[in-house]
Amino acid sequence: MDVKITWLGHSAFLIDFDHYKVLLDPFLTGNSNAAIPAKKAEADLILVSHGHSDHVGDAIEISNRCHAPILCNFELSNWFAKHGAVNTMPIYVSGTRAFPFGTVRATIAVHGSGTPDGTYGGLALGFILATHDQQKKIYFAGDTGVFSEMSLIGEDAVDVALLPIGDIFVMGLSESIRALKMIRPKNVIPMHYDPGLNLEGWKREVIETSGAKPIVLRSGESFDL
Ligand code: NI
Ligand code: MN
Repeated sequence: MDVKITWLGHSAFLIDFDHYKVLLDPFLTGNSNAAIPAKKAEADLILVSHGHSDHVGDAIEISNRCHAPILCNFELSNWFAKHGAVNTMPIYVSGTRAFPFGTVRATIAVHGSGTPDGTYGGLALGFILATHDQQKKIYFAGDTGVFSEMSLIGEDAVDVALLPIGDIFVMGLSESIRALKMIRPKNVIPMHYDPGLNLEGWKREVIETSGAKPIVLRSGESFDL
């Protein structure tokens, strides 16, 4: 199965599984590094990792326009429904749901999940997306710090990890190296950082210490898996 991963800026990605489009954390309106405006976004399924506004983004508008369900934690799915989302799909840690392209499993993420209006938004999640033949696996970490269960994710033979590296609210560069030693992905795509950040030293360290191949995308650029 052809899998194309396109970074849309911040933590927003479009993952195309043979034309089945999965949109992750679609923060486009108000994102100065967004590759496309929200009205141009297309999706068959939308994943939202947690309730913060830079991840909820345009999920409701895109979901309703594209008839794409929003997959997220239970409390957040109730919040989405209350705010006009027609099609929501709850999931929680270690749960798996099946879709035409394959499966999505929820993982923990060490982070908050309050919604933009201050409502309790459940627990922050990460996601592992796998093609139905289990041949290609993508770990989307959401917003998180390092946690030791990343070594369990490392047992899953992850092809690509989408990892936040921007520090302050998520792990920073050196902590991301510790995470990569546990996740052991073949490739890593950084997200959730200031686009002006110089990543040359980080790329070298990733190669030398973790064995992963760093794939630094420009907003709008794609990686073919
Ligand atoms: Ni957050
Ligand atoms: Mn965030």
